[in-house]
Amino acid sequence: MAPVFTSLCRKGSLALLALASVANAFYLPGVAPRDYAKDAQVDLNVNVLTSDETLLPFDYYYERFHHVKPKHEENKRESLGSILFGDRLHNSAFELKMLHNVTNCQRLGDSVITINSEDSLFINDRIKEHYQQNWFVDGLPVAQLMENAQTAEKFYSIGFQLGQYETEDPNSQPTPYLNNHYDFHISYHTNANAAEPLYRVVGVIVWPYSVSKKEQDDRRCGPDSKPQGLHLKEDTTNEIQYTYNVYWIPSDVSWGTRWDHYLYTQDPQIHWFSIINSIVIVLMLSGMIGMILLRALHKDIARYNTFGDEDGSQEDFGWKLVHADVFRPPTHRMLLSVLLGNGAQLFCMTGITLVFAVLGFLSPSSRGSLTTVALIFYVCFASIAGHVSARTYKMLQGEFWRRNVFMTATLVPGIVFLIFTFLNFFLIGAHSSAAVPFSTMLALIALWFLVSLPACMFGAYFGFRAPAISNPVKTNQIPRQIPPQPLYLNKWIASLIGGILPFGAIFIELWLIMNSIWFGRVYYVFGFLFLVFAILVVTCSEVAVLMCYFHLCSEDYYWAWRSFLTAGASGFYVFLYSIIYYTRNLALDNFPSTVLYFGWSLVMSILFSILTGAVGYFSTLYFVRKIFASIKVD
Ligand SMILES: *[C@@H]1O[C@H](CO)[C@@H](O)[C@H](O)[C@H]1NC(C)=O
Repeated sequence: MAPVFTSLCRKGSLALLALASVANAFYLPGVAPRDYAKDAQVDLNVNVLTSDETLLPFDYYYERFHHVKPKHEENKRESLGSILFGDRLHNSAFELKMLHNVTNCQRLGDSVITINSEDSLFINDRIKEHYQQNWFVDGLPVAQLMENAQTAEKFYSIGFQLGQYETEDPNSQPTPYLNNHYDFHISYHTNANAAEPLYRVVGVIVWPYSVSKKEQDDRRCGPDSKPQGLHLKEDTTNEIQYTYNVYWIPSDVSWGTRWDHYLYTQDPQIHWFSIINSIVIVLMLSGMIGMILLRALHKDIARYNTFGDEDGSQEDFGWKLVHADVFRPPTHRMLLSVLLGNGAQLFCMTGITLVFAVLGFLSPSSRGSLTTVALIFYVCFASIAGHVSARTYKMLQGEFWRRNVFMTATLVPGIVFLIFTFLNFFLIGAHSSAAVPFSTMLALIALWFLVSLPACMFGAYFGFRAPAISNPVKTNQIPRQIPPQPLYLNKWIASLIGGILPFGAIFIELWLIMNSIWFGRVYYVFGFLFLVFAILVVTCSEVAVLMCYFHLCSEDYYWAWRSFLTAGASGFYVFLYSIIYYTRNLALDNFPSTVLYFGWSLVMSILFSILTGAVGYFSTLYFVRKIFASIKVD
């Protein structure tokens, strides 16, 4: 029953939710299939070594690993996004020739490798931390074949261990063994239509082995060799060599579907569960909104308007009382409009990036494309930030427009940049390859000041030139006294209560996203993500509007910052959640990794708060303008 359900769900999730499946069907225009003739050279590229237990990737050619370098070393050109994400792709010394089986323990490189005792210790420590190799053949990740324990389905697990560090006996300390022999099983698809047969790579599986030098010399490596053959001794110098075999295996898998094995989800129901959870929250909230706002508001408005007609001496009540104060500019309007501008920028960036991802332009085969595209949109949408910030600031009767433009362009990006620079020092200190190179830093600064800042000024120019948004009711000179408020309407308490709901609508998907970020799993169900984003936006606006209505009814008219904080509080919960995730899912074993994790979580939560806060503010603004425009005020 369970497997049937799983497979139904899997099919359903791909078929019914067309949005999600589209991501598999299309590929980036630049990524065309590559045809190889027989015996043509197929490249194997190597990326950084990564571990789930640290957040410190190492370059494949970091000297202490003593990996064999090819004769002509070249760095593969990469997008800005993948550099920022820590990818460092190089060519390798492996020689793979299409359809040419290698079965005699081919040696990698010419000479035997000597590893001194300190570097042996270093490598053993990395094996103990379960570092894994990330290689690519023809753009496809090299994977290990795994089996789902429940459904016995086979799937590809991307990457493979640097070494082995396990033991059957739970009482004894395991010994680290280095994997120094690789059996490649490369599936190829024959294109019979061409004049001479051409072949495409459609799957790459590796079986790593730890093999003694004697067995390698006897050509007995791979499945025939004794397991656990190579342990690097930490008190002497070790001489080792790397060997490999290659088997080319014909396959029916076509090029267009070659990623399907890799994009296997262990339990696809979880996405449905997440969507159902979100929809329940949205329906509940919308029900409340519908009941309270529509019914109560209609009654209020009808009463306000009829009473006023008959005699002017009736007593007003409820939110009508604050009509002369509700549009009073809030305190710190500079900061508010700057945050709102940046929130609008983040909102547009996320929305458009997701649309692109859903349409399948950001396929997993073009690495780092998601980050690159997001970054490009972020930089371009600085114009939106400038415009929104300027118009809001003008509406709030602010006067320092130059400072407004400058702060919009620098405050939030500056904070993010500072945190990243700070974290980068930790990466450099740990010799991690993820440290962003100086040239990339310069490129980022150039993007910021040569593209983003002018774009922001451009947007702001039109923002300040546009007529100020006028309010539907006049504001009195003298502010009205606010009566004592119940405890639950306190600014902080109300925000914390309000923030739970948007967070509750997304936390399952958030868990999946965190898995994909911290454990390097391929995230590809952008259809779901898009839906969840839409639901997040709806929830944020509903919560902010609802809270605002309660506040106005108890004659508290400071709604501007509140609406921002109510929706933005969900970012606070995202940060809390990342702490829980740290304690429950991650086993980071060193201090720099912990600092990196919390630094990145902090950045994510801040940006999330700004985005949701802006959504909250603008929907509340719309709401307040609507209701005060519909009553008669003398
Ligand atoms: C290469 O090895 C695989 C697996 O053993 C086998 O199926 C295939 O026929 C071999 N190819 C050639 C050209 O010998």
